[in-house]
Amino acid sequence: KLQPVLLSGGSGTRLWPLSREAYPKQFLPLAGEDTMLQATWRRVADLADAAPIVVAGEDHRFLVAEQLRQIGAPTPAIVLEPVGRNTAPAIAAAAMQAMADGDDPLLLVLPSDHVVRDGEAFRAAVRAAMPAAEAGTLVTFGIVPDAPETGFGYIQAEAGQAEAGEGVRGVLRFVEKPDAVTAQAYLDAGGHYWNSGMFLLRASRYLEELQRFRPDIVAAVRTAFDAAARDGDFIRLDKAAFAACPSDSIDYAVMEKTGAAGVLPVSIGWNDVGSWSALWEVSEQDADGNAHHGDVIAIDSRNSYAYARRLVALVGVDDLVVVETDDAVLVARKDRVQQVKDVVARLKAGQ
Ligand code: GDD
Ligand code: MG
Repeated sequence: KLQPVLLSGGSGTRLWPLSREAYPKQFLPLAGEDTMLQATWRRVADLADAAPIVVAGEDHRFLVAEQLRQIGAPTPAIVLEPVGRNTAPAIAAAAMQAMADGDDPLLLVLPSDHVVRDGEAFRAAVRAAMPAAEAGTLVTFGIVPDAPETGFGYIQAEAGQAEAGEGVRGVLRFVEKPDAVTAQAYLDAGGHYWNSGMFLLRASRYLEELQRFRPDIVAAVRTAFDAAARDGDFIRLDKAAFAACPSDSIDYAVMEKTGAAGVLPVSIGWNDVGSWSALWEVSEQDADGNAHHGDVIAIDSRNSYAYARRLVALVGVDDLVVVETDDAVLVARKDRVQQVKDVVARLKAGQ
């Protein structure tokens, strides 16, 4: 049984001023008509044997429910976190929910804010990974890296079939967010993949491995889950118990340490849309390489991205990002958009 789990806890500050704490990027239609959450469900609807389990922050409960209802998704179980404790506890809570009826399904864990351009290839990859996951492997989906990014996990696959899609391979090493020198060394060495942040794993198997390395997290989530208040489709984790849970990601808590990891190299048009330049990359571009959302006129401009609520005109500019919203305007060089997070930091400090 395949049980999709949609993680919807990030705040996506690198897409400021559009993505805000109150309205992070998974709830925005950044790459098409659907919001990213909606697109995530549509991508797996045909594979799923159950309604999604969504793990989200308490503040976003109505956004999640409404956006999934809008596209006719089956009524999800929405596990609500009173505070964010990162992905290791979030996935543990999803596993407990999935096992609540005595089931032990395969969890297809999906960030709800990524773009996958080739949905068919993605579904084929999930199907290909199922036997390994059934047998107890914690399957990751590996992306062929093209730059020494430091914001990703790196997976060194066992030598073997080199072609994408050829089956789940063993993992020699999983290193979450290496420094730039190490990342470059992995690229030079070859045989390393980026962790896409999507996982296929049996619910009980995940809890077993988490128990092995972080029994404190399992204990805290168990207490918060057992004391949860159930209110319709909402499962509200107990506030005090969940607040007492240590914060950690699945990548550090489990994937770096486990001997049960596997990797399926994939070629699916994946992008985690971690910046405005990434959004430009995945957006449809005109002959001059410009991409836009909303009402934009571009004259003699190239390789630029504009997001417009009102009318925005670009004249004679190259490699620029312009984002115009009701209360803020961002103008940035496309190769400097990582520093948008500094704007957010300054705004926070000023509050
Ligand atoms: N419900 C919930 N609660 N979801 C969360 C929480 C939380 O506390 N924290 C993060 N998430 C969700 C985010 O919304 C996102 O969809 C996903 O989990 C991953 O979290 P990120 O914060 O975006 O992780 P990252 O980008 O630093 O790193 C992860 O993703 C990379 C690929 O994009 C890791 O898995 C890396 O290894 C990976 O390369
Ligand atoms: Mg991310």
